[in-house]
Amino acid sequence: MTMKASKLSLKNLSKIKTATEKYRLVNTKEEIVFPQLQEGKQALFGKIDADVIIFGGAAGAGKTRALLTDFVRQEYIDNPDYRAVMFRRTYPEFTQAGGLVDESRKIYYPIKGTFIEKPSLEWRFPSGARVSFRHLQHEKTVHIYQGSQITRIGFDELTHFTQEQFFYLLSRNRSVSGIKPAVRATCNPDADSWVASFISWWINPKDGYAIEERSGIVRYFIRQGDTVYWADNKQELIDKFSLKDKLFEMIPNDIQKKFLLNEEISIKPEDLIKSFTFIPATIFDNRELIKVNPTYLANLYSLHQVERERLLRGNWKIKYEAGTVFDRTWFEILDKVPDDWKLIGKVRFWDLAATAKENAENYHCYTSGTLVYKYQRIKNTLPDLTEIKEFAYVIADNICEQKKVGEVELMLKNTAELDGKTVAVRWEQEGGSSGKFVENTITNVIKENHPNHDVKAIVPQGDKLTRALPVATAASRGQIFILRDGTWNTRFLNACQGFDGSKKTPPTNDIVDSLSGAFYSLENEFQEHERIISTIVTSAPVNRFRSGFRG
Ligand SMILES: Nc1ncnc2c1ncn2[C@@H]1O[C@H](COP(=O)(O)OP(=O)(O)OP(=O)(O)O)[C@@H](O)[C@H]1O
Ligand SMILES: [Mg+2]
Repeated sequence: MTMKASKLSLKNLSKIKTATEKYRLVNTKEEIVFPQLQEGKQALFGKIDADVIIFGGAAGAGKTRALLTDFVRQEYIDNPDYRAVMFRRTYPEFTQAGGLVDESRKIYYPIKGTFIEKPSLEWRFPSGARVSFRHLQHEKTVHIYQGSQITRIGFDELTHFTQEQFFYLLSRNRSVSGIKPAVRATCNPDADSWVASFISWWINPKDGYAIEERSGIVRYFIRQGDTVYWADNKQELIDKFSLKDKLFEMIPNDIQKKFLLNEEISIKPEDLIKSFTFIPATIFDNRELIKVNPTYLANLYSLHQVERERLLRGNWKIKYEAGTVFDRTWFEILDKVPDDWKLIGKVRFWDLAATAKENAENYHCYTSGTLVYKYQRIKNTLPDLTEIKEFAYVIADNICEQKKVGEVELMLKNTAELDGKTVAVRWEQEGGSSGKFVENTITNVIKENHPNHDVKAIVPQGDKLTRALPVATAASRGQIFILRDGTWNTRFLNACQGFDGSKKTPPTNDIVDSLSGAFYSLENEFQEHERIISTIVTSAPVNRFRSGFRG
């Protein structure tokens, strides 16, 4: 069953109790079709009655859609006091194409929602019920909600929020509407996030995948200081933390009678406890998406292995570290470039030593230059003789030396002479006047004998890991080759294998940075000459993981 309509009809009018419902029916004179959750994980998400639920699978699992749908149940939006707020970390995440606003229009217009953009994004329903979209870009933004009563709180992409933001808002989750307050969140796996430890009971510590049998099992927690304590039932927590006594401590003596011993308005120890469950899902739980957009699956397959593990298989353990960014076995060693590969461009990219940049007189830092050739090759031929082409990159040389200022420029000049005029020279430009100075010096020194040599500095964007991911992804797809040479091959492969994106491991980072830069330059400046057919040809992964260097 998908999208099965739940319908209100005028025939049922006599059974309808609330004035708001009557208002809706009399005034709209049409049937309202409520959106439904898909069978399976989405339906489970809508069914479980826990204070907090995280729907935390993998990409395209239908998490955001489930959150939006769950927030507009009929009994909620017919209640004039219903106040729901859905958070994303930043405002543009709501308004970007395909974001929450677009997705909510599909669901909320048919149920008579009116969308207000100013003063802030909000859906209003005929009864007066509201679902607002708010960002929490800064840690402090959360305090705007002091004193608020939010019936239902949603976090889309919870791992983008801090633990403090989450728990602060949990305390704002109360209601005078008669609807039980609840918090619902979605997220994709992120091993470094606080969410990973929060949901650890639902995850297999060995492989990082969700334990399917625990999906949707409700457990209970209290937070004391910064620590969250868990139990399988409320009584366990009441006993272990003496929650009865705690209540007496929390409530002043003179009003204890009113709140702790009064049947009607009593506060109970279990009120200090929250119930929680985690529901994992993957794209395979979202038949609607696979039906309308089957290529989305191929997009996920083409990601870097760390992203693929997280976003396709829902792995909460894998992260970028030595051995996962690059694996030395991804690089095939070639004795010779095959004759039928068509050359597209050649670049030698330099990561200059800090000493060269700062004019220091010591030899501690490395200057690394990697020479990469870009080719187009036929990957395979289909039965109808269509040729599937892809790019192939051959690492032809790597230099990695500790040189002083002056020596560095000479090394660049000599290398440019040896590589020849057909090899473009690029390097990572530092900001400020020293970067400009180095740029002029290198340009002049290389162009001295060859004024037409293609020489240019490139400004890096993003951190070392971000810059390395496109080439690492291409390597994992078998698109990066190494020309056999005993003098540098092992050092180069060791650097790739040991690279974890952190700054602290010279010359590993210097070597990888020079590879990332060469790949970036070849990708952006040396485009293909003919249209490439293969779906796996693009050497860079999807846009958000692209590296950044600006020429
Ligand atoms: N019940 C449903 N009926 C129709 N379409 C659905 C349903 N559930 C999900 N979809 C569609 O599937 C697509 C992916 O869903 P959604 O954006 O909710 O996934 P997600 O898990 O939040 O993905 P991401 O990890 O990228 O944020 C959307 O286009 C959405 O409209
Ligand atoms: Mg989503």
